[in-house]
Amino acid sequence: MSAPPFSPSPEFVILCELLEHESGFVSGTALAEKLGVSRVAVWQHMEKLRDQGFGFEAVRSRGYRLIRRPAILNAGLVVAHLGPRGRSIRIVCLNEVDSTNDEAARRLAAGEPAPFVVLARRQTRGRGRLGRAWHSADNGNLYASFAFRPRIEPGRMQTFTLWMGVNICELVANFCSARPGLKWPNDLIFDGRKAGGMLTEARIDADQIRDLVFGLGLNVNSPASAWPAELARRAISLAEHAGEPLDLNRFTAALIGRVLLAYGRFVEGDYRDTFADLWHRYDVLRGCPVTLLEGTHRHSGTALGIDDEGCLLIRDARGKSHRFRAGEVTMEKGS
Ligand code: BTN
Repeated sequence: MSAPPFSPSPEFVILCELLEHESGFVSGTALAEKLGVSRVAVWQHMEKLRDQGFGFEAVRSRGYRLIRRPAILNAGLVVAHLGPRGRSIRIVCLNEVDSTNDEAARRLAAGEPAPFVVLARRQTRGRGRLGRAWHSADNGNLYASFAFRPRIEPGRMQTFTLWMGVNICELVANFCSARPGLKWPNDLIFDGRKAGGMLTEARIDADQIRDLVFGLGLNVNSPASAWPAELARRAISLAEHAGEPLDLNRFTAALIGRVLLAYGRFVEGDYRDTFADLWHRYDVLRGCPVTLLEGTHRHSGTALGIDDEGCLLIRDARGKSHRFRAGEVTMEKGS
């Protein structure tokens, strides 16, 4: 199933025109002609944009100019920044949801065409790995779940989250000149603190993936003061790391574009050449003393990186290497 054709709302058409001519003015007559409506109708559509947090300067005989954009997540801005790629994926933008992963799974189960992405300003039951809660306040952070129906064998899924992780690191590094890191298998790290986490969930038929949800929680703009006490020393946002807030809507558009690209390369299988090098570049564990908790078993040693199947390699004190498909890793203090 493919995404339904994109039909832009009048507000979206106005927004795109104003963004395209941001340094100048766009006349009300030109907007009315473009939309095939009266100038009064244009004004009414612009009121709706004002309600969303946009601001305009109106000058007689020149027209309108965009002078303020909402800082919070705005579906129209995300799609406008995505450009033509925005038409290849449906974007569902919610004020509040229990979990974007759960919402995406419900929509897939109901037969909604994929791909699509669910974004929310806050989650009431955001989930992390191992059933942990994911702090999901409305504080300028990103909660996103991408839904796909890939036709691949379940065995290939082990490297999916890792591949997405390196792509998100590449995006963040380019977007805000930051130096992100990855802690196997799913943590995004800045300055030794957690900036994001990924949660991939798949429904599997006999020998094929039926559908797949890739969830990402990324601390984009929350100030240090916004964390609850138990997270204050462990969590960090991109804004905190970069020293200034990021344009959340531009960033979200860039993220969607990157995830779509990365997904395509994963399904085609043409990611293997670059994957190992990229993981190496961002791997924060490599060469460090670590302990991996696997059920009730603890394995200590030095992290050596990952193998072709995405398993973590650890060399024990006797020099023997072990590979782990899953587990919870902690870095030893001082490393
Ligand atoms: C982890 O580090 O354990 C993974 C955290 C994943 C959190 C994201 S936020 C968007 C999506 N919805 C959820 O309920 N979880 C993921």
